[in-house]
Amino acid sequence: MRVDFNVPLDGSKKITDDKRIVESLPSIKKIMENGGRLILMSHLGRPKGKVNSDYSLAPVALRLAELLDCPVTMAKECIGTEVMQQVLALQDGEVMLLENLRFHPEEEANDPDFSRELASLGEVYVNDAFGTAHRAHASTEGITHYVQTAVAGFLIERELLYLGKALQEPERPFVAILGGSKISGKIDVLENLFKKVDTVLIGGAMVFTFFKAQGYEIGNSLVEESKIELALKILAEAKAKGIKLLLPTDVILTAEISATADCHAEMITAIPEGMIGVDIGPLTIEAYRNEILSARTVLWNGPMGIFEIDNFAAGTMAVANAMAEATAKGATTIIGGGDSAAAVAKAGLAQEMTHISTGGGASLEFLEGKELPGIAALND
Ligand code: 3PG
Repeated sequence: MRVDFNVPLDGSKKITDDKRIVESLPSIKKIMENGGRLILMSHLGRPKGKVNSDYSLAPVALRLAELLDCPVTMAKECIGTEVMQQVLALQDGEVMLLENLRFHPEEEANDPDFSRELASLGEVYVNDAFGTAHRAHASTEGITHYVQTAVAGFLIERELLYLGKALQEPERPFVAILGGSKISGKIDVLENLFKKVDTVLIGGAMVFTFFKAQGYEIGNSLVEESKIELALKILAEAKAKGIKLLLPTDVILTAEISATADCHAEMITAIPEGMIGVDIGPLTIEAYRNEILSARTVLWNGPMGIFEIDNFAAGTMAVANAMAEATAKGATTIIGGGDSAAAVAKAGLAQEMTHISTGGGASLEFLEGKELPGIAALND
């Protein structure tokens, strides 16, 4: 089973967020409880095709053993004779974890011989690594050519249900909240969502490219000069399609981006020279909250400001809170992974959302409407 155990580790190799391991448990337990001999494989980080103990999956095996409350055999390698011996020694209902696939350059190169070797370890292939499904690598795509049965696990099923359902048949009103620093990073998501969405709320530094396009002064705020035309096109397209696209009416300004810097709210028509916009303001928070609370489906991707700094986090936290309230009122609330998932965790509201994607890049590509090679390659 390919899982995405690419989890964050701190300096002492302690896992700082085990969500991806926890979310893989339903598939893992199903196989073990049904007497399967389970071989798990994953990458961790980007070791660039070389063995590097900093990227060993050993800490993950320990955490998994704790969560399962049973031993997890940690292999020193992911292919080779020793691994094969460990595989053959596995008993019904036992589990082992292979060492980081990316210690071999063949993994990311989707090398056919490496894929065949991985395939030779088992009889049935399960892919439950949603977070890596946008990569056509040996363990996600290549391997499917050398096994008879290649199926999706429960995590992928759940991700497809929520991220897919939100796009295909949303209960209306359907509100999408898009944040982040650059229009260029979100334009494909926006274009794809325009086919389905009723309302779009925009936040994050990308709003300043829209403001510049509309002729406002934006001080020293981040701007993508090359995307000003595109910003105008997006606004025109939303209008033509009857989509309510909201931009902030006020923002939080600071003279410098630091945890101790002063900041204050200002209307977007009055941004002084030299100031930097770092969050949405209180009037915008109120307006966005009302939109979120009147929605039946809410999809959120990208923070409203620099939420890693507490003084600039109010907008992002307010969106997280409004989404939690919307969930309580019966709306379907979906967090598209990455930074927004981190923000929801910081707000302590992870349990209050309908679904938080385990994908970063994978969710983004899925929301852009792209086919994910790791999923397309499965035969059931
Ligand atoms: C992720 O964390 O987004 C996935 O595990 C994929 O990792 P990658 O971007 O290094 O391929």
